[in-house]
Amino acid sequence: MSSKQKVGVVIAAAGSGERMGEVDKMFALLGGKPVLVRVVDVFQSCDLIDQVVVVVSKQSLEKCRQLGTEQAWSKVADICPGGERRQDSVAAGLNRIRDCHWVVIHDGARPLVTEDLIRRGLVEAEETGAAVAAVPVTDTIKVAGDDRLVQHTPLRDNLWAVQTPQVFRFDMITEAYRRVKAEVTDDASLVEQSGYKVKLYMGSYDNIKVTTPDDLALAEVLWQKHGK
Ligand code: CTP
Ligand code: MG
Repeated sequence: MSSKQKVGVVIAAAGSGERMGEVDKMFALLGGKPVLVRVVDVFQSCDLIDQVVVVVSKQSLEKCRQLGTEQAWSKVADICPGGERRQDSVAAGLNRIRDCHWVVIHDGARPLVTEDLIRRGLVEAEETGAAVAAVPVTDTIKVAGDDRLVQHTPLRDNLWAVQTPQVFRFDMITEAYRRVKAEVTDDASLVEQSGYKVKLYMGSYDNIKVTTPDDLALAEVLWQKHGK
């Protein structure tokens, strides 16, 4: 990638964290610091990143802006409110990205992201303009109807569990967001539906999404494992 091509990041952290219960997962502590701070710190200290936009819920906006003033987040250009669905939050973040050729979209709930995952995503995205971290699934996956009768069992060798970071050429992802309005569960789906090719690259089984209280406990173990 040309060193002149700027890289922006949208951190989607505006969910309501319902499956976590009482605890606000973005502010839950991991290795003694809030999950959201752990995530932003990885991008802040990554040389490849120029600009970061953090998208948080309206209720967390003030708290997060306060955090931003306490941390030395020189790359954080904006902390803005998200929307109803994840894709509405990402769209709000994309609107705040300025003059970037590439954009990395990342879940605020994945604090085990590493500089290596970001770097490899940016390298892999050069070929098609879109690259997504993913790991081979370890369980057998079945497709069933509403009646729970199995319709078919896809070959496991071809199945990947998709994560973030998801890296896109800025023009590609913004066009996809303009064109596709259907509800999706990841950003790459919009790019795929716009007819572009998306490349999967090897993510990490440790790059978990903190969804339930058990995940938070696991994240803490993984944090220690990585010697952080
Ligand atoms: N997210 C977002 N805006 C939304 C919904 C989700 O920015 N309207 C973000 C979450 O903050 C999270 C990521 O998307 O970092 C993945 O979503 P998920 O793990 O489902 O988190 P929540 O939606 O917060 O949790 P839940 O579904 O349990 O309510
Ligand atoms: Mg959710």
